[in-house]
Amino acid sequence: MMVTVILDRQSRINTNDLKARLDAVSGDRPRFSTQELTEFVNLMQVYEGAMYEISTKLEILDSEFQVRFAHDPIHHMERRLKSVNSIIGKLKRKGLPVSVASIKDNLFDVAGIRVICNYRDDVYSVSNYLSAQNDISVLRVKDYIKNPKQNGYRSLHVIYAVPVFLSSGAHYTPVEVQFRTIAMDYWASLEHALRYKTDLPDAKLAEHSQTLLDCARSLQNIETQMQNIHRDINGAPQVEETPKAG
Ligand code: GTP
Ligand code: MG
Repeated sequence: MMVTVILDRQSRINTNDLKARLDAVSGDRPRFSTQELTEFVNLMQVYEGAMYEISTKLEILDSEFQVRFAHDPIHHMERRLKSVNSIIGKLKRKGLPVSVASIKDNLFDVAGIRVICNYRDDVYSVSNYLSAQNDISVLRVKDYIKNPKQNGYRSLHVIYAVPVFLSSGAHYTPVEVQFRTIAMDYWASLEHALRYKTDLPDAKLAEHSQTLLDCARSLQNIETQMQNIHRDINGAPQVEETPKAG
């Protein structure tokens, strides 16, 4: 008999580490009180729980597709909790108060999951099946696949509210899920790298940005052609609708 260990605590929230980081970045005031530090750690634990709830739902959908259609819609997933530095940086950038209440009220991407799918059909079928589950709700949808950004960025962004059950009851918590294809992910990684390359001359940057825009269009064409072949040989659902909020 094979036994699988399922409680693996390695990657869980480390309270002391979080407190130390928060103390370090809030050094220039406003300082967090001990009570706020505790509230922050508790809040991060809830975000982490919400992230696990959604990833499990996605894994279950993926395995159902495997069983029903002999097709894995999800190529892989990445998940992350926003770092203390990015949380505080974002609040400051948006001119919002730096407090635990402000994080809860204003940030919807503290818990984030990126779902990299094989085809565009998979993006829409997985996101629609997840959105239809009646224990969670859809807070916001941005379809940059149907309406790509000016730079060529394509992805489907959905913010879900997920109940996390603690000893105190259900806590509805937002999770930002970015659904994209392998081609979209390939493109976004390079564009992201270019954006953070600040020592490039303007002319070079403009040239690369233009090339990237051309690449986005080419990748979109390739993706469509390959998806058509896949549609012909695989019975997985063919879905093109954007999930709806509310
Ligand atoms: P902020 O979260 O405040 O930035 O605004 P928003 O919630 O309206 O953002 P949006 O949903 O448009 O995008 C959020 C995330 O999508 C970013 O943090 C990136 O991970 C990704 N993203 C958005 N636009 C781009 C882009 O042009 N290039 C790349 N590489 N990633 C992008
Ligand atoms: Mg965002």
